[in-house]
Amino acid sequence: MPSVLSAEEIRDANTRYHDVAADHYDSKWGIDFGELGLSQVSAKVRKALGHEPGHYARSLEIGSGTGYFSLNLLRAGLIGAATCSDISPGMLETLQNNASRLDLNVQTKPADAERLPFADESFDLVLGHAVLHHIPDLPRAFAEFERVLAPGGTVLFAGEPSRYGDRLATVPKRFATAAAPAWRRAIRAAPAPLGDGGEPDAALESVVDVHAFAPVELSRAARAAGFEDIRVTGEELLANWFGWANRTLEATANPEDVPWAWRMYAYRGYLLLQGLDRRLLESRLPAAIFYNLMIAAHKPSS
Ligand SMILES: C[S@@+](CC[C@H](N)C(=O)[O-])C[C@H]1O[C@@H](n2cnc3c(N)ncnc32)[C@H](O)[C@@H]1O
Repeated sequence: MPSVLSAEEIRDANTRYHDVAADHYDSKWGIDFGELGLSQVSAKVRKALGHEPGHYARSLEIGSGTGYFSLNLLRAGLIGAATCSDISPGMLETLQNNASRLDLNVQTKPADAERLPFADESFDLVLGHAVLHHIPDLPRAFAEFERVLAPGGTVLFAGEPSRYGDRLATVPKRFATAAAPAWRRAIRAAPAPLGDGGEPDAALESVVDVHAFAPVELSRAARAAGFEDIRVTGEELLANWFGWANRTLEATANPEDVPWAWRMYAYRGYLLLQGLDRRLLESRLPAAIFYNLMIAAHKPSS
């Protein structure tokens, strides 16, 4: 996805877009800080590493948003002192509110992934979820992750859109767009009101996503920064098609008219298909065709 904007313009768009998104982000994306979120995040970490995770005394999250990964990992006891960074101060404010509500202690710091305001070798784990695809200069960001990690430290990112997975996802989106008027009639929903205030600027949406990756692009960026034991895996195929189709349908309707039973069907169906992907497909099909890519690697010990 080549962008015509400069790196600075992309960073600025990301800050503005996510500052506005912060208030409704958790409800829009079904971010959970209960048992479900805890087990989802722990499973992703286990899958990315390819083994049971250890305990990481000092973690730094990049593009932490409202805290989906770090707050759930704190609750799971997998990380000790958690630092959360993000280019959007609005997201960090929501994260702090979530942390207070959950009685969790985190340090937050506004930061661009390409210029981390942290000392060399100060973390045991650098992690993130759904953030690498927003970063203009990926090699520079990976060099920063390597710099701030202690020798032997782990870098781990999940939820990154894969290039083929992204293309495949256009099929359910197109299908849902065509089916939307009939679907709204069936559930007796009015069309979505135009510009309902709390939504981020739709024009920025196409600007903030600057990459969809082939697995080799992620491993190349990690290797160039000096990482070793690099592992790139894929997750979610059927679950993503189902999720995108439902989200596309829902976006066309007045949110108040979408029945609770439909929301339950969409939510439970997604979890069911996530399980099916995990049990049947993820170990059998190549990483490139899944919607989400994950990468884990180590900084050499010496
Ligand atoms: C899709 S959201 C994911 C948030 C969170 N990790 C989650 O999974 O819910 C992407 C996040 O990356 C942040 N971001 C975008 N560009 C960034 C950059 N260059 N450096 C640091 N964070 C960035 C955004 O502000 C946003 O909070």
